[in-house]
Amino acid sequence: MNQIRISQSVIERIYEIPVEKIMRTDVVRVSPGAMMSELKYAVKENNYACIPVLEGEKLIGQISIEGYIDWLTSDLGDVPVSEIMDIKYKTLHPDEPVITAVKELELIGLRGLPVVENESEKFLGVICRCTMMEGVLAELDMNDKKEEQKDDCLFSNIQSSSALVTLSYIVKQKPLEYGGEISSSIRADLYKLGLPGSIVRRTAIAAYEAEMNLLSYAGGGLFTINLNEEILDMKIEDRGPGIPDVEKAMEPGYSTAPDWVRELGFGAGMGLQNIKNCSDNFKIESRIGEGTVLQVNINLEDK
Ligand SMILES: Nc1ncnc2c1ncn2[C@@H]1O[C@H](COP(=O)(O)OP(=O)(O)OP(=O)(O)O)[C@@H](O)[C@H]1O
Ligand SMILES: [Mg+2]
Repeated sequence: MNQIRISQSVIERIYEIPVEKIMRTDVVRVSPGAMMSELKYAVKENNYACIPVLEGEKLIGQISIEGYIDWLTSDLGDVPVSEIMDIKYKTLHPDEPVITAVKELELIGLRGLPVVENESEKFLGVICRCTMMEGVLAELDMNDKKEEQKDDCLFSNIQSSSALVTLSYIVKQKPLEYGGEISSSIRADLYKLGLPGSIVRRTAIAAYEAEMNLLSYAGGGLFTINLNEEILDMKIEDRGPGIPDVEKAMEPGYSTAPDWVRELGFGAGMGLQNIKNCSDNFKIESRIGEGTVLQVNINLEDK
């Protein structure tokens, strides 16, 4: 099958869109007491993605299209949804970047994923594989319009080429599902400083991949961004176990991600390569038992 090549700038923008911007909120939901025979409409209406099962506003289960077909072809007869629904399933959070949803849907081969509020598990919507593209395109268009309107930014008023701004961010260890917060803050702060969208996007992607690696392998770490008019210099350091073979780790597709990381849709072995692709200059240094330091330089001139 021919693969469509998506341009780097579109990929960069996809990293910026949070799941809540493109989730479908008008999906059909059912209660656990509904009968399986009543789901035909919901299956179609929800674009053959999942059917959320709610108690009040809380998501307590889901019927996947695969589960529905299994039931149809079984000899169980008409039974309540609660007997068939999955109770172990992946969910997305509204502020996760849409790229997480893309990775999950592709890697696990799902047609849709429910989106729930961070702690309460309140059901918010569904990311459907077949409507995701429409949502992404609409968001990209909106973002373009917003960027065009930006002109009064702090950095555009700084005249001296030696002006230096330092930003630091601590990445604390937490479940990978909640990762992406620091790279979102970095993106927001760089926009506030008035850096062009293309620079902010490249930095935010590199930061996102590095943040996920800090959470997956190193137990957290530190970002330091030094900025003058010519260069953005982002250092990411950790005191994790270090990387035994850096050359190998840089190879696309190489990953030592444990099962719990893969189950969350990561571990394709693309992160470090992606960070390098976003950099004008990239350096990685790692010592076993001491930790890893990444240096990402992005030129700001002529952009
Ligand atoms: N900060 C780190 N500390 C220790 N090991 C790391 C660190 N960052 C990366 N690695 C190692 O390098 C490998 C490759 O990392 P990379 O980010 O390219 O891929 P991945 O994290 O396995 O998958 P993906 O990023 O595509 O989800 C990892 O599997 C891990 O073994
Ligand atoms: Mg990675």
